[in-house]
Amino acid sequence: MDIHKYLDQQRQRVDQFLEQSLPGTLSHPEKLYESMRYSLLGGGKRIRPILTIAAAQALGYDNDATLPYAASLEFVHTYSLIHDDLPAMDDDDYRRSRFTNHKVFGDGMAILAGDALLTMAFELCSQDDEDNSLTAGQRLNIIRELAFGSGHQGMVGGQVMDIQAENQEVDLAHLKKIHSHKTGQLIRAAVRIGGIIGGASSAQLESLTGYAEDIGLAFQIADDVLNMVGTREELGKDAGTDEKRGKKTYPSFFGIDGARQLGEECVGRAVKRLESFDQHADPLRHMATYIMSRRN
Ligand code: IPE
Ligand code: IPE
Ligand code: MG
Ligand code: MG
Repeated sequence: MDIHKYLDQQRQRVDQFLEQSLPGTLSHPEKLYESMRYSLLGGGKRIRPILTIAAAQALGYDNDATLPYAASLEFVHTYSLIHDDLPAMDDDDYRRSRFTNHKVFGDGMAILAGDALLTMAFELCSQDDEDNSLTAGQRLNIIRELAFGSGHQGMVGGQVMDIQAENQEVDLAHLKKIHSHKTGQLIRAAVRIGGIIGGASSAQLESLTGYAEDIGLAFQIADDVLNMVGTREELGKDAGTDEKRGKKTYPSFFGIDGARQLGEECVGRAVKRLESFDQHADPLRHMATYIMSRRN
């Protein structure tokens, strides 16, 4: 299959849904919606929602009912990026090929736009489901996954470990823990939510979870490598920032080639986890490979 074509098609589907799910900039309070729309609709690969869609497809479920749940992951992810870029955190000026949210709207509005995106994610998952596409139990499980992946034992927990590790001696086991939380847990939630939507058995959900944990680590290893070898034009965000902020990364332990090789090993393991799935899981298989080969 042509994974780039698949990603383009799914990204368009997600973008369309995101666009219509956020109130327009004429709604009150206007500045809040302007700030939310600026970051949510301003580019982004949409990897997490596409993983949700692809995991549901792996189980033979392909329906627009997936979209609100898939979109909820992009809402949480975008909020995490807005906050990650704040002066009190990574203090970055560029994201998704434009100025970061706080550079345009100020720190206060950036914090609040992030808060509103986070809470709206849960609104999306709990809105009326007129077609009864999913059972109440499935929806509760989805909301639990989203909360867990985002929160104190998930992305937020990882971000805490990440800022505490700046300029500290960190061993590899701790670095892996930081990565698997700050980036891995939301990717894990994305795949598991797709699994829940597709009605995965517990064995299938276990395989999907293993796949997600492996690609989650690969995804952050790739981000670390790109931070060293990429340019602002390619990445849409500044390069070389990890070293400047004293962040330990996979390349700082293994060099760029060594880190790439470890990432490839994660991808190989991830694909192996899907052995019991048929060709419906091809998008997931190809996404694993794409994650290490991407240029942004
Ligand atoms: C960047 O995520 C931050 C990490 C968690 C590594 P993405 O690389 O998915 O960023 P966008 O959404 O495409 O901008
Ligand atoms: C981002 O990690 C993880 C988040 C939870 C947002 P990084 O700080 O390493 O990602 P970039 O390089 O700013 O996108
Ligand atoms: Mg960060
Ligand atoms: Mg950052």
